[in-house]
Amino acid sequence: MLATVTTTISLLTVLSCVESYLLQPDVVSQDCMQCLCNISSWCTFKGCTNVTGFIACGYYQISQDYYVDCGSPGSDWKTCADDLNCATYCVQSYMRRYRNQPHCHYNCLSYAMLHKGGPSACGHVDSSNYLAHFWGLMAKAGCHENS
Ligand SMILES: *[C@@H]1O[C@H](CO)[C@@H](O)[C@H](O)[C@H]1NC(C)=O
Ligand SMILES: *[C@@H]1O[C@H](CO)[C@@H](O)[C@H](O)[C@H]1NC(C)=O
Repeated sequence: MLATVTTTISLLTVLSCVESYLLQPDVVSQDCMQCLCNISSWCTFKGCTNVTGFIACGYYQISQDYYVDCGSPGSDWKTCADDLNCATYCVQSYMRRYRNQPHCHYNCLSYAMLHKGGPSACGHVDSSNYLAHFWGLMAKAGCHENS
């Protein structure tokens, strides 16, 4: 009896997790997500890279801090980053959390800045070389500011 109750409760917990996983509204458009994925990894399996001590993993090259900020979905950082569905969910959650930061707009340019530069990056596209470089790659790939 107790076992049945416990099983039922854990099943409900699982279901409500799945449900909240599915019900969160996307804030970043498909086009912009495709751009972020292409620029980060060509949207292929990339694993982790270590650029001068900055470790980023998976389809969107997500750092561990980013993963924690997106709510640590899935089993762990690297596994989630290498799973396109989980990584996509993480990016959407991260943007939902930070898109109201100062100087951010609800557009692809701001999402790119947040993605690459973190919560305070909006507004620095002109003053930061690496943010400008990242947006340059996005623009060159045909990604539009307002997509
Ligand atoms: C992303 O890459 C795919 C495959 O290379 C390409 O078809 C698509 O146009 C690219 N999209 C963007 C927005 O860069
Ligand atoms: C990442 O690279 C730095 C040097 O740039 C090195 O000190 C560090 O150990 C590397 N980390 C991993 C996990 O490979």
